Amino acid sequence: MVSARGVIVTGGLGDIGRAVARHFAREGAALLLLDARDAAAPEAEQVAAELRALGAAAVLVRCCDVADAPAIAAAVAEAEAAFGALHVVVNVAGMMIYKPIAELAPEDWRRLLDVNMVGAALLIGEAFRRMRAGGCVVNVASVHARRTSPLVAPYAAAKAALVSLTRSAAIEGKPLGIRVNAVLPGAIDTAMLRASPNIRSGAEVIDPADLGQPEDVAALVGFLASDAAQFVTGEDVVADGGRMGRL
Ligand SMILES: NC(=O)c1ccc[n+]([C@@H]2O[C@H](COP(=O)([O-])OP(=O)(O)OC[C@H]3O[C@@H](n4cnc5c(N)ncnc54)[C@H](O)[C@@H]3O)[C@@H](O)[C@H]2O)c1
Repeated sequence: MVSARGVIVTGGLGDIGRAVARHFAREGAALLLLDARDAAAPEAEQVAAELRALGAAAVLVRCCDVADAPAIAAAVAEAEAAFGALHVVVNVAGMMIYKPIAELAPEDWRRLLDVNMVGAALLIGEAFRRMRAGGCVVNVASVHARRTSPLVAPYAAAKAALVSLTRSAAIEGKPLGIRVNAVLPGAIDTAMLRASPNIRSGAEVIDPADLGQPEDVAALVGFLASDAAQFVTGEDVVADGGRMGRL
């Protein structure tokens, strides 16, 4: 049993998830990383070792599909037993499908919404059943919740739904003393961005001055999860270097 802040990060083996985990590790948190990637892989052990070296009080990495409700419940119960209590949930897990709407199959829509929105909703439910007052949730949405580009309709819809879910959860979380906020990153230099067919084809061009780092997102998540943000809930905060606001 540890007395540190208990923090759950989904998508914790991805670029932004790892940066978020590093932020909380430096604060001495006890971390549960949930990721669809195989947690037994050497990469997962490397990430855990890095987090322990940064100061994490404990690190658990579990291979888990965020849309798999029983698996999520089991992992959260394990973390609660190991850490004593849960204080912060950060929903980072996400995926993209690049297809025109005319070619999207029903299962494309369902999978995208399951991973990017329903998974976060399930974990918020777990948090509301288990967390004490003072806890908080941060959802990593995207600027695509507000403005978007071709070929990513399910992703944009799921991220907009995640922002709406954030507002609803903040209302229900208020009497529980649990805050819920969302961050909307712009272009962040990660594997997911580099794999984008829109970027590769040149259909979407990003000025290097508008390219953020995973740490930029992690710092905002850290702020929203801190006592400095104790009066902030139900908000969706953009971190895009000003790209979306320009004419
Ligand atoms: N990179 C960007 O420019 C950018 C911009 C805005 C928002 N985002 C969002 O930030 C989040 C992280 O993105 P990233 O760029 O670090 O990408 P990434 O691909 O490095 O990380 C995503 C992680 O989520 C995990 N994941 C995918 N499906 C999962 C599932 N069903 N269950 C559990 N884990 C699952 C992946 O294994 C991966 O480790 C995503 O939600 C993404 O939509 C990214």
